Amino acid sequence: MEYCKLQLLGIVSLMLVLGNTQGWGEDGHAITCRIAQSRLSDSAAEAVKNLLPKYAQNDLGSVCSWADRVRFYLHWSAALHFADTPDNLCNYQYDRDCKDQNGDKGRCVVGAVKNYTDQLLDYGKDTQYNLTQALMFLSHFMGDVHQPLHVGFTSDKGANLVNVHWYTKKQNLHHVWDVNIIETAEERFYDSNIDDFTNAIQENITKTWSNQVKEWETCNPSETTCPNKYASEGINAACQWAYKDAPEGSVLEDDYFLSRLPVVSLRLAQGGVRLAATLNRIFG
Ligand code: ADE
Ligand code: ZN
Ligand code: ZN
Repeated sequence: MEYCKLQLLGIVSLMLVLGNTQGWGEDGHAITCRIAQSRLSDSAAEAVKNLLPKYAQNDLGSVCSWADRVRFYLHWSAALHFADTPDNLCNYQYDRDCKDQNGDKGRCVVGAVKNYTDQLLDYGKDTQYNLTQALMFLSHFMGDVHQPLHVGFTSDKGANLVNVHWYTKKQNLHHVWDVNIIETAEERFYDSNIDDFTNAIQENITKTWSNQVKEWETCNPSETTCPNKYASEGINAACQWAYKDAPEGSVLEDDYFLSRLPVVSLRLAQGGVRLAATLNRIFG
């Protein structure tokens, strides 16, 4: 009995430690998905409700980090969380960059968004796919492709290998963008309340950014989703904001935090708006 408890504690601690290493953290993914769910058409909202597992209680935000939890045993899925470009080249090209470590084409976050969108188009048909998993993967990867350092440089693994200090704490630059900027914003400005931060972003979508939202939603008419565009913006933001003034060994404090928070807020907003637009196109 005691041994079981210890083992369970070990597994839970390991999940907590590992759980934060990829994608936006739990909060970033939940924010993206809650924004998305609030913008669904009636038919898309109905389809999402039908596809969500019961335990989600019709809250898409509650399952948006599921893909991060399963990547440690569904090994084939690990490469689908990011797309890295050649070092210091601040642009993204599908044919050049969307591959896994073995060079298998399409196995990156952009290919994953395309693939799970295609699977979900089978909704209402007799299908071989697990559409509940397809929805949870798509919702997660749409968030990841909007995290600028998920379209980062190859040799530093999207800045996972860039060591910095976040204020006084040792951290890597990738984690700063997955978790720390969001966490610090919540603590400092929103009473550590994720809903208040989400609502502030929602308000920006309807006010400050309202004249850009149509453009965010729009893809080439032949496409249901356009992750190449999202990834190109990502590596641009990575170069212009994430890597900039944050070399190995730097100490990142208020200057960096306050100038990058608007970029993080924008990318969370775009991820949510585009996940909704994609689901609305899929489910009619
Ligand atoms: N592993 C390698 N590159 C990565 C990236 N850009 N993001 C997350 N994990 C990675
Ligand atoms: Zn991820
Ligand atoms: Zn990450």
